[in-house]
Amino acid sequence: MEQYAIKGGKALEGEVTIAGAKNAALGILAAAIMTDEKVVIENVPDVSDTRTLLAAIQDIGATVEHLDEHTVSICGKGIVGDDTLSVDGKNIRKIRASYYLIGALLGKYNYANVALPGGCDIGTRPIDLHIKGFETLGADVKIIQGGKIVARAEKLVGKHIYLDTVSVGATINIMLAAALAEGKTTIENAAKEPHIVDVANFLNTMGANIKGAGTDVIRVRGVSRLHGAEYSIIPDQIEAGTFMTMAVATRGNVLIKNVIPKHLEAISSKLIEMGATVIEYDDSVRVMADGVLKPTQIKTLPYPGFPTDMQAQMAATLALSDGTSIVTESIFENRFRYVQELCKMGADIRVEGNTAIIHGVEKYLGASIVASDLRAGAALVIAALAADGFSTIDDIKFIQRGYENFDEKIRGLGGDIEIVDSEREFQKYKLKIG
Ligand code: EPZ
Repeated sequence: MEQYAIKGGKALEGEVTIAGAKNAALGILAAAIMTDEKVVIENVPDVSDTRTLLAAIQDIGATVEHLDEHTVSICGKGIVGDDTLSVDGKNIRKIRASYYLIGALLGKYNYANVALPGGCDIGTRPIDLHIKGFETLGADVKIIQGGKIVARAEKLVGKHIYLDTVSVGATINIMLAAALAEGKTTIENAAKEPHIVDVANFLNTMGANIKGAGTDVIRVRGVSRLHGAEYSIIPDQIEAGTFMTMAVATRGNVLIKNVIPKHLEAISSKLIEMGATVIEYDDSVRVMADGVLKPTQIKTLPYPGFPTDMQAQMAATLALSDGTSIVTESIFENRFRYVQELCKMGADIRVEGNTAIIHGVEKYLGASIVASDLRAGAALVIAALAADGFSTIDDIKFIQRGYENFDEKIRGLGGDIEIVDSEREFQKYKLKIG
């Protein structure tokens, strides 16, 4: 089983370029099949989640062509939207974003048959709000044998939909289904993340009529058809934030390129509170830290609040600060599974309900640890890079779902990290690094 082997203790220095936003790409790749014309999408991050979704789109008959490492063309014309249509498979059942194919197929064909979503084990992750949205638009939605969801409608008619909980997935999925519905749909209490805006902008380049994305009221006026388009995905705010916290935890000096600084405001302000220096340029940020880090309080909230996807990375950094910090996870029920792994490295963290109380320690000690989900895995890499000595991280497949060339980018900043797949290879790595 592949592992990351890491020798910590070096301050990361240099430049790193951020890839396209995974959570925008997944909605956009699904939306691309809603036209029978060709769509070209640039800045697609090459991660296992996007590869899995593209394979699923191809499996149901779309034409997918990789024009280069980060540019893909998709044409949904080959999809047969009748009741032979079925999105299923071992891999697609592992990712969360398969559910966007329900909204896209239902919107285009008034029919969808998709395996229920998987995704990181950070809570129960129901899809009741998605289903409520589809039903409000006029679909009949059933969970059928074999863990599949079937949605069917005579036609979809625009309605007023209020989301009880702010949900990124439900907001995007309802936008997809409403884009070709008859009449006007209003989504109240919508999520406002940058990736919601990116999906809405993409749909509008295909001829949709969506206003208000990025606010908590999104208005969709259904159109009769969508046409081909060319689009470039925004940079990934969470990958950028991950490298920002990595620079701070290792007391480094890193220029993070291809970012939208505004999307990073919640992260930057917390790192500055901790004593780091963050310098913003047009499309990059420089993050520096040295000496003592100050403790702070974090509460994860929907955008523009502090992002839940940065909670673990921030906690791993706060565990090295000089004092007590409190981290409250208000979005998911089970997003502290990384804490036990950090404690194996000498962290002093106690979890009580949805709050982690973090007493800073001087340093981490290298250990053998296991990634439980995507962002928890990133947090463990940050801790191992800051630790004294060698660490191994198991189950890196979770990390590779959302970070492109993660080890390569870290080596580019002077970090000692390699992928090994046996104890012998790990020993060889230790001898090589010394
Ligand atoms: C998206 O997940 C992201 N995944 C997550 O990123 C991210 O953590 C999350 O949004 C919040 O920003 C993708 O975009 C593929 P939600 P999603 O619906 O859509 C509850 C990562 O690390 N809820 O906004 O599943 C839900 O249980 C991943 O890249 C319902 O109750 O998140 C949660 O408590 C991890 N019913 C809250 O809403 C529903 O029908 C927010 O979930 C839907 C959600």
